[in-house]
Amino acid sequence: MKRILLAAVTASFVFSANAADLKKGQELISKGACIGCHGENLNKPVVAEYPKLAGQPADYLYHALRSYKVTNNPNLGRSNAIMVGQVAQYSDKDLKDMAAYISSLPGTMVMKK
Ligand code: HEC
Repeated sequence: MKRILLAAVTASFVFSANAADLKKGQELISKGACIGCHGENLNKPVVAEYPKLAGQPADYLYHALRSYKVTNNPNLGRSNAIMVGQVAQYSDKDLKDMAAYISSLPGTMVMKK
């Protein structure tokens, strides 16, 4: 039983790792206006206050992007009007693909351990 469970868990991890489509993410990002604010390679924000995106962990980016879609809960989500408008048109799968692509870009942020 344990083995079967382990196999199922492993399979679902492998599946979800492959689930994000980098190419689709790249297409969506280049069609979107993202570079207009987040800058070249999403790593040179045009305004210092805007966040650098390149190389951030995909799961965090996906969480952040989804948060801009949560607009009916005062205790959850993000309400920044610009980004709420940006993500509205995308499905959750689109956001996952975009997050995976952004994460694959070389970034200059440093993660301290
Ligand atoms: C008009 C300017 C503008 C455009 C266009 C724009 N963004 Fe943003 N983005 C911002 C700002 C400002 C923030 C910070 C919002 C906040 O404080 O929550 C942000 C935040 C983000 C974050 C959260 C980053 C973090 O570290 O938490 C992600 C991810 C993101 N944007 C992705 C995108 C994507 C993908 C697109 C294109 C579909 C896009 N943005 C288009 C201005 C923009």
